[in-house]
Amino acid sequence: MELYIDDANVNEIRRLIDIYPIDGVTTNPSILAKTGSNPVEVLKEIRTILGPESRIFAQTIPMDADGMIRDAHALVTLLGKHTVVKIPSIPEGFKAIRELSQQGLTTCGTVVYTPMQAYLAAKAGAAYVAPYINRIDNMGFDGVETVKKIQMILNLHQFKTKILAASFKNSQQVLDLCAFGIKAATCAPSVIDGFVKNAAIDSAVQDFLKDFSKIAPNSASIADLIG
Ligand code: G3P
Repeated sequence: MELYIDDANVNEIRRLIDIYPIDGVTTNPSILAKTGSNPVEVLKEIRTILGPESRIFAQTIPMDADGMIRDAHALVTLLGKHTVVKIPSIPEGFKAIRELSQQGLTTCGTVVYTPMQAYLAAKAGAAYVAPYINRIDNMGFDGVETVKKIQMILNLHQFKTKILAASFKNSQQVLDLCAFGIKAATCAPSVIDGFVKNAAIDSAVQDFLKDFSKIAPNSASIADLIG
């Protein structure tokens, strides 16, 4: 499963890519707004941090297909070929996705709340579709089950489109979909940290340290002990 950071805070991005096996960063206008900075400068900085090969997902702003297509090209020019252009899965968005995929750009049909939105984005040529798990839950439906249904539709109709599961609020939602075999997930930093935030894990590693100190009281590592 590809794993992305759903955040534009550059300090958090630096921290997370230093420790976890991360495939890139996903953004949208709301995520960029949280930085309070010029969105173009933030996206450029994220590209610099990630290097040229990792994927950045960035979203178009206009609501009409021509504007979306124009923004898509501007984003790829700004951020390089490993840019996935997020396009809202609305009628004008399907038109833009179809044209952009014919032009060879990689797109993600985003703002997916229903399986048929995902179907249309996939059929239009999107490389990814991004369902919003937690927001679907908040509407009284089951986000994880909706994503599973989307995956079944993609399989049945033999689309190559990957699901980029998004809008997680806890690591259990990610686990359920990881175990189901979805191809990509994007999570806020706190949700990624939550994968390994567990008192039993902390206690186990502390026990190893304590036990080592019993047999090598003056060494903090094997390397120290060897000298
Ligand atoms: O990637 C989409 C995501 O950012 C939406 O998440 O937390 O605003 O529901 P959220």
